[in-house]
Amino acid sequence: MRNLILCGAPGSGKGTQSDLIVEKYGLLHLSTGDLLRAEISKQSELGQKIDSIISKGNLLPDDMMITLLEQHIASLPEHTKGIIFDGFPRTENQAIELESLMKRSGDETAVLIDLHVDEKETIQRLINRGKTSGRSDDNEDTIRKRLVVYHKQTEPVADFYRKLNKYQRVDGMGTVDSIFQRIDEILKDIYY
Ligand code: AP5
Ligand code: MG
Repeated sequence: MRNLILCGAPGSGKGTQSDLIVEKYGLLHLSTGDLLRAEISKQSELGQKIDSIISKGNLLPDDMMITLLEQHIASLPEHTKGIIFDGFPRTENQAIELESLMKRSGDETAVLIDLHVDEKETIQRLINRGKTSGRSDDNEDTIRKRLVVYHKQTEPVADFYRKLNKYQRVDGMGTVDSIFQRIDEILKDIYY
């Protein structure tokens, strides 16, 4: 399987662009944020713990996140084309774990696409979404915290994939369709 990593700050459009990629290329969308929110909605003890972390804008500890991800991947149906990892890996440690998982399963990460959006724009997008999303982290204080966490903990992941020659930066400003065209330029060589 040739998998894709979609990376970028909160509100950079990872989920929005994933939907378009799924539509055109039939990849399987795996958003770790969605996975965690599904756990929260079960109102389990684990869900409550996750909720208290997400609503503060912090990341789940790596070991907890990796265990949940591996369990989820094991439950997926056989899928030949590939997975879009949206919001994972978010730390260098997670990147190391993902690459080791790929080796063990005989799969690969083909490319990391890093969506770049001005900070003012991401904040505005998320404040707007917060009016209807019901997400406990879509309020201005938590949005700012998420951005700090992103710069500190997730940006090093870009360097990790740069060194593997798998890094592609994409301008994430403009209309949804124009951004998808930029992504498509990269994907059409990988997935035909
Ligand atoms: P996660 O759910 O991944 O949230 P995020 O990374 O903060 O990103 P968002 O989902 O908010 O934004 P997005 O980039 O998907 O943008 P979207 O397309 O929705 O993670 C949430 C939390 O879970 C984390 O903070 C952490 O606590 C935890 N977590 C998740 N993964 C983890 C991991 N690996 N390790 C540890 N913890 C983890 O777009 C945003 C809005 O903008 C939408 O309203 C959309 O309609 C709009 N929009 C999109 N594109 C455009 C455009 N071109 N123009 C105008 N508006 C646009
Ligand atoms: Mg998202």
